[in-house]
Amino acid sequence: MFDKIFHQNKFSDSELLLQQIWDLSVDGMRLTNEDGLIVMVNPAYCKMVNKSYEELLQKPFQNVYHPSCREEVLNTYKQDIGLNRTKTHFECERTLWNGIKAWFEFSNSFIVLPESGKLTLSIIKEITKRKQAEVDLLKSEEKYRMLFNNAHDAIFVFQLSEGKSYGDFIEVNDVACKRLGYSKEEFLKLSPSALIPPKHIERYNHIMEKLPEVKHVIYEMVHLAKDRRLINVEISSHLFEFNEKPTILSIARDITERKISEDKLKKTSRRLRNLASHLQSIREEERTIIAREIHDELGQVLTALKIQILLLEKKLREDQQPLKDKVKEVTAVIDSTIESVQRIASKLRPVILDELGLISAIDWQAQDFEKSTGIKCEFNSNTDDIPLEKESSTAVFRILQEALTNVARHAEATSVSINVRKLPDVLSITIIDDGKGITDQQVNDAKSLGILGMKERALLIGGNVTIERRYESGTLVSLEMPLKKN
Ligand SMILES: Nc1ncnc2c1ncn2[C@@H]1O[C@H](COP(=O)(O)OP(=O)(O)O)[C@@H](O)[C@H]1O
Ligand SMILES: [Mg+2]
Repeated sequence: MFDKIFHQNKFSDSELLLQQIWDLSVDGMRLTNEDGLIVMVNPAYCKMVNKSYEELLQKPFQNVYHPSCREEVLNTYKQDIGLNRTKTHFECERTLWNGIKAWFEFSNSFIVLPESGKLTLSIIKEITKRKQAEVDLLKSEEKYRMLFNNAHDAIFVFQLSEGKSYGDFIEVNDVACKRLGYSKEEFLKLSPSALIPPKHIERYNHIMEKLPEVKHVIYEMVHLAKDRRLINVEISSHLFEFNEKPTILSIARDITERKISEDKLKKTSRRLRNLASHLQSIREEERTIIAREIHDELGQVLTALKIQILLLEKKLREDQQPLKDKVKEVTAVIDSTIESVQRIASKLRPVILDELGLISAIDWQAQDFEKSTGIKCEFNSNTDDIPLEKESSTAVFRILQEALTNVARHAEATSVSINVRKLPDVLSITIIDDGKGITDQQVNDAKSLGILGMKERALLIGGNVTIERRYESGTLVSLEMPLKKN
């Protein structure tokens, strides 16, 4: 075909080279004249449109397309020639003569030759696969964008940049814009620190600095909206690579409601604790009063009674032995009643606690426990004196009493030891038995009100009670509380 164009029979090297390029090109090549008749096509073009060389030559080029679009294609072709555009480049989807749809990329150049006149050289690539991939990508991007924008949480993407620990936003979702009151354009000019109130900036910077090391972190933060509103958020930040740069994806959940509920709950439990403390102290006061009244009043009356009876006995004659025996019986009953009164009063509120202090009270309690239960009770202390206020020493004493009661009631122990250690600023008391041991479930059971009472009492005086099964055997109750330095 080249001879026709170049009007030569003998080919020069450069002409041969051109012919080779024409024949071997993987892109379709087509020469058409001003009327749209095909002057030349290469093998790649024939293959592309699924027609033989002979079927194409000297035929209108639009015949390779479906009849429904031939006119339109020809019109555009003529328009381009008419406008004398020397080069056009475009992509379009066409339906071929056999009904197959395909995407093509056209590069058209106009050539003017002395004999053949104005010709159009089209270099054509079939790009259907690439187009499909682009469409798929767009669709998947759209899908992710939808997810991104319809998420319930605010999402921010920003890159770590050199010099500062974090750079500017590169992407934010609709929720972020709506919640914080910035348009997307405004956002993209901001740095993430613009959302953090000054009070929290140091902590925020610290978290960001740590991120390259830990890769993922969840933290509570406060966001500052454009209108200066403060929003409590829980942020989950991930570090990943994007465009070869360390990039941070932060998802911020609005936890305003949660915070309000938490605060309410905190306030309620504080109130309940205050109420419990109040009831506890009223109970102690009442016990003290009753104990004193029983001890003093009843004790005095009984003592007076005993004196009266002893005076009466003196008035009896030698020969009234049966009566004398009766008086002895009665005084013995009075003595044991006095003892009972003292015991009851002590149970209500040991006078010793108020008069001799906590250590003496614990010592007395240990002996009393051993006597009344038969369980050996050992008491060790590294101090004789614990400087505690009345309320605190009462609480410590009551915790100890409850622990001992539990040993007697539940432990099936043969011995128990009470250990008091006073350190410069902490008081530590342990009560260890050698019984069957408590279970975690019993410790945490909502019905374990005795244990709950111990824990609550400890909290009220700034301390802490832990109860656990010992590795060897038995149960360990441990109370720790801070001591004020004198
Ligand atoms: N020293 C202990 N040894 C074994 N079990 C214990 C001990 N102390 C408590 N428990 C178990 O823990 C449960 C809860 O104790 P507590 O709250 O004081 O309730 P209560 O004494 O009224 O049963 C007890 O019922 C008992 O089963
Ligand atoms: Mg109990």
